[in-house]
This record gives sequence, C-alpha cells and structure tokens, in this order.
Amino acid sequence: MPEISRDVAYAVARLAAGGVVAIPTETVYGLAADARNVEAVGRVFAIKGRPADHPLIVHIGGAAQLSDWAKDIPAEAYTLARRFWPGPLTLVLKRLPDVPDVVTGGQDTVALRVPAHPLTLELLRRFGGGLAAPSANRFGRLSPTRPEHVVAELDGAVDFILDGGPCRVGLESTILDLTGDEPHLLRPGAVSLAALEAVLGRPVARGGKSRVRAPGGLPAHYAPATPLVLLAGDRLWQEAARQAATARIAVLTHSGAESLPRATVVTLPSRPEDYARELYATLRELDAGGFDLILVEAVPESEEWLAIADRLQRAAAGHRELGDSPQVRG
Ligand code: TXA
Ligand code: MG
Repeated sequence: MPEISRDVAYAVARLAAGGVVAIPTETVYGLAADARNVEAVGRVFAIKGRPADHPLIVHIGGAAQLSDWAKDIPAEAYTLARRFWPGPLTLVLKRLPDVPDVVTGGQDTVALRVPAHPLTLELLRRFGGGLAAPSANRFGRLSPTRPEHVVAELDGAVDFILDGGPCRVGLESTILDLTGDEPHLLRPGAVSLAALEAVLGRPVARGGKSRVRAPGGLPAHYAPATPLVLLAGDRLWQEAARQAATARIAVLTHSGAESLPRATVVTLPSRPEDYARELYATLRELDAGGFDLILVEAVPESEEWLAIADRLQRAAAGHRELGDSPQVRG
C-alpha cells in the first residue's frame, strides 16, 4: 500500500528528490513529477504504461509562471487565466526551448494549467516549479477521482498519495489550443465552449483537425474493462430487458429510476455537474461488479453535457456494436 496523507511538506520533499507523487486536483487525481527532471518524468510514463509521444500537462502555481514554460504568449492566454485559473482549463502554448522533450512529446507546444485544489496549490507554491502530471490511471483507463481509485490503479507503483478527498469536478480539464490563428478546443471539460467564447469575444473552433496532436483524443480512452454500450432513452430499456434475459447487466441512467428484473440499475443525477462528479466512480464500481455488459443511457446533446458525452463515447468506443448475445470480452 502506498502512504496516503495530507502532508504537503512531505510531498514537496519527495518531488524535489525526483519522486513521483499522486496529487489531488479539482478535476481528477494526477501522477506528478518535477517537470524539469527528465528521469522523474520518465518514471511517470513507465508507471502509467503511457506511450512516449503523448505529452503531459505542466501544472503551475499561477499565471505569472506561464513565461517560465511558454513563449509568444498571446494576451488571450492571460485573459483566460484571469477568468478561469485556478480551474479546469488547460492552455496549449508555444514552448520555450528548455522545456524537456519528454514533457511535450517532442512537439513545439506545451500544455499548462493552474489546478484549483487548495492542497495542490499549496504544494505548487512551496515547490516553486512546474509539475508534469497526467491523470493517475493506467493508460486508456478511467481517471481516478478519489484517493482509493489511485490505489486501485497504481497500487505498489506509487509510494505517496496526497489525500485531497473526492474531486469536485470529476472530469479532466478543458484543453484549449492558443497557438493557431483561432483558438481551438482539443478536449471539452467543465469550462464550456460558450464560457470560453464569451470571455474571448470570438468563436472557438472545435472538432476537425487541429495543428497539434492531443493524443487524449484517441477514440477509445477513459474506458472501463467491461463492455459499455451507449443507447438513447427509448432503446435503452428495450435493449436492457433483452440483454438481461441471458447476461448479467448493469444499466446507468440519469432520467429517472426504473427497475428491471435481473438487472442492476444505477441512477446518476440529472444535473450535468453532479453527473460528471460521480461518473468515473460509478463506472469503476460497476466495472468491479462482474457484469457482462454496462448499458448507458445517452445524455442530452446540449452544450452543458458536451464533456460527459465525449467521455461516454470514448468509453464505448472499443465495443460499440451490440450483437444478439452479450459481448463478453475474452
Ligand atoms: O484535468 C486534467 O487535465 C488532469 C489533471 C491531473 O490535471 N490531467 C489530465 O492529464 O487529464 P492527461 O495526461 O490524462 O491528459 C492530458 C491531455 C492529453 O490528451 C494530452 O495529449 C494533452 O493533454 N496534451 C498535453 N500536452 C499537449 C500539447 N502540447 N498539445 C496538445 N495536447 C497536449
Ligand atoms: Mg488521462
């Protein structure tokens, strides 16, 4: 078992000595290393089993540190930082030459964010530098939103977890690329497209091809091991009844409880912020429940559900087709 405590001074000491520490943020738990320490960052990749060309976000204590990592910083970056930092927004900017390639995946850009968790803000303030931190899960799996999830994901591979309790937001940060002619949304999150456009006073591009690679954009990502299928409300109960006849199934809904014989039905909150906070923990529990299949009710197509819809589509991407028999992964 890794050590788990709220001891910020200890976390600072471990990080300064080149250690890897799991840290709480408002979005999800991160697996942090000193972003200037190539060897320590290498250990983060090894622990996660993450391919080397997938860049990491550098977490900093405030917007004043942007210029330690980025160059040609547009005024819009500071405008967004004033409005949304500390908070769940990551900005992709042109990197300074001395940012280690291991952090940026060798790209000419760097992703930066100031997380809004009091313990981690204090950690960053005392540490002084930047912390490269991906989500503290094995590559492709669900991000941890509670300290015990980090234990379940990484067990012996991480020796210290800074305990910040459950994450308030529950989904990974919004990522915005500011290196092109127009701002480009690379990953939807709690800071919405509409909020970004309102502050910037101009449209934010989304989808299609961006100038930069954001490998978290892989179609199959953020996935439980149990096959997961997304279905619109009307087909959901019909399909659930059919599948329940021959398989152990779980149904994840948000539009109101219905019960179904021979199925486990879980109802998540109907407000998107509350749904997001509980989603990963719920999928993790269901994943441990030994089900053959998880059926998830598709969420509304409105903007406030965008980040949730994105993660659900990725979670379903590995096993989207619903055959006649339950799909049990071998
Ligand atoms: O909320 C979050 O962002 C969490 C917490 C721990 O801060 N972190 C997180 O990290 O989700 P990770 O590594 O799981 O996802 C980071 C995403 C990846 O999709 C990565 O490709 C993208 O950020 N990214 C990092 N650097 C980039 C860059 N220079 N250009 C484009 N995308 C970048
Ligand atoms: Mg991740």
